[in-house]
Amino acid sequence: MQKKEAYKWALKQIQAQINRHVDIVATLANITAILKERFPNFFWVGFYFLHDQELILGPFQGPPACMKLSLEKGACAAAVHQEETIIVPDVHQFPGHVACDSRSNSEIVVPGFDCRNKIRMVLDVDSEKFNDFDETDKEYLEKIVEKLKTIW
Ligand code: SME
Repeated sequence: MQKKEAYKWALKQIQAQINRHVDIVATLANITAILKERFPNFFWVGFYFLHDQELILGPFQGPPACMKLSLEKGACAAAVHQEETIIVPDVHQFPGHVACDSRSNSEIVVPGFDCRNKIRMVLDVDSEKFNDFDETDKEYLEKIVEKLKTIW
């Protein structure tokens, strides 16, 4: 299946979850499960919540990850500061990259906002392949995160 098609399917499934939303953890947990199932190249996919100037691990699929990330370094922190999606084609070249698992080689991080446009979290996806994320991933992962504005 083409990547765009896979994202369109994922978006439909995610919208169905949001329509049934009762709890943030439950909704986000299922979103990570949908993405992990649809995209076998997603080695790790999950959310970090912004709490008291730190990023705290939220629902995810994949190997165990860092429970807490500082805002001083790494791709997730950069996405928070810039309030923009960060695509990292080679994590080993990213200054201050935080390696939660050494198998990860590329990454995309999408910031998530609430209805007042206050940043609340990031969606982070890692791949074992280098250069595995492009503008299509950015476009659709941003659409997914945009849909989550209403859950806060
Ligand atoms: N690589 C991220 C840390 C999170 S893990 O990849 C799950 C970073 O540099 O912020």
